[in-house]
Amino acid sequence: MTKLAIVGAGAIGQLIASQLSSTFDVHFITRRTNFNSLWQVETASQQRQQYSAPVITAADDLQQFELVIVCVKAYQVVDAVLPLLDKLNPHCHILLLHNGMGPHLALMAHIGERGLSLGTTSQGALLTSPQRVTHTGLGLTQLGHLHGKPLNSSLKQQLLAAIPQSQWHPDIINALWQKLAINAAINPLTALEQCKNGQLAASTYKQHIDQIVTELHQVVTRDNIVLDKAALLTRIYDVIQLTANNYSSMYQDIAHQRRTEIDYINGYIVTRAQQHHLDVPFNFALVTQIKKLEKKPANRNN
Ligand code: PAF
Repeated sequence: MTKLAIVGAGAIGQLIASQLSSTFDVHFITRRTNFNSLWQVETASQQRQQYSAPVITAADDLQQFELVIVCVKAYQVVDAVLPLLDKLNPHCHILLLHNGMGPHLALMAHIGERGLSLGTTSQGALLTSPQRVTHTGLGLTQLGHLHGKPLNSSLKQQLLAAIPQSQWHPDIINALWQKLAINAAINPLTALEQCKNGQLAASTYKQHIDQIVTELHQVVTRDNIVLDKAALLTRIYDVIQLTANNYSSMYQDIAHQRRTEIDYINGYIVTRAQQHHLDVPFNFALVTQIKKLEKKPANRNN
C-alpha cells in the first residue's frame, strides 16, 4: 500500500483519512496533543465507523511518504509544511486542501521543483469531539496540479476513486477562485449579520453580494483568469439556497471566538488587488470589520 500522510487531524483531516484508509497506508502528522491514533466517523444517518492510523510528528522518519495531504486551516499551512520540507523524500508530492487561497504563493518560494497540487472540498465535516467527526454532507471535491512534477497517474486515480464526488480539474486556480467567490460572499456577511446562510437571499444583501463579486471579478481578470460574473452570482445564490439552514464556518468561528479565514478569502482578493494597484473597497471593509469582531469577546448564542 502506498504510504500517505495527512497533516492536521481536524474535521476535514479525519474525514479524508477515513475515506483513504482502505486504499492507502495513512499516517497523521499533527501537533494536536489530544488526538491519538483512533477516531470515529459518524454519517448523517448516525452510522458510526471506527478508524485507526499511526500518529507521528515532524521529528519522525518522513522519507517513507509518497504523498502528503495538508488539511489544516489556511493560516496554519505555511508553519505546518515548512518544517517538513527537508525531511520529506524529494519525490513526495504535496496536496493542499483548505478553504481560501494564498498559502501556495508563500510555499512555492521554498518548494523547489517538488510537485504541488491544490484542492477544495465542499464535503461537510463537523468535529463533535477530538476523535469524532460527523460527515454532515456530501459535496464536490476538486483537485488539480499547480507546480513541479505532476502527481503520478496511478496515485491520482486511487485518490479520485477513494474520495466521493471527486474530480481532477485541469485549471485548479480557476476552480479555487470560484469556490473563493462563494465564501467571500457568504462567510463575512453571515458573520457580521449573525444569520444563517439562507437570510442572504433577501433583497437587502443583493447590492453587497454584487459588490463583492464585481471587485473579485476585476481582480481575477487582471490575473488573466476567465470567470463569468453572472455565472458566479448564480452559483452563489444556489449555495445560499442549498445551505439555507446552515451557519457558515466564519459565523461559527466568530461565535466560538476562533480565528477566521478572512485573510485567505476576502483578504486574498485585497492582496491580489494591491498587486494590480486596484481598489476593492467593499472587500477591504469586510476584512476590517471581521478582524474587529475577532478581537471582541463573544456575546452570541451559538
Ligand atoms: O465556509 C462555509 O461555511 C461553506 O464553505 C459555505 C459553502 C459558505 C456554506 O456554509
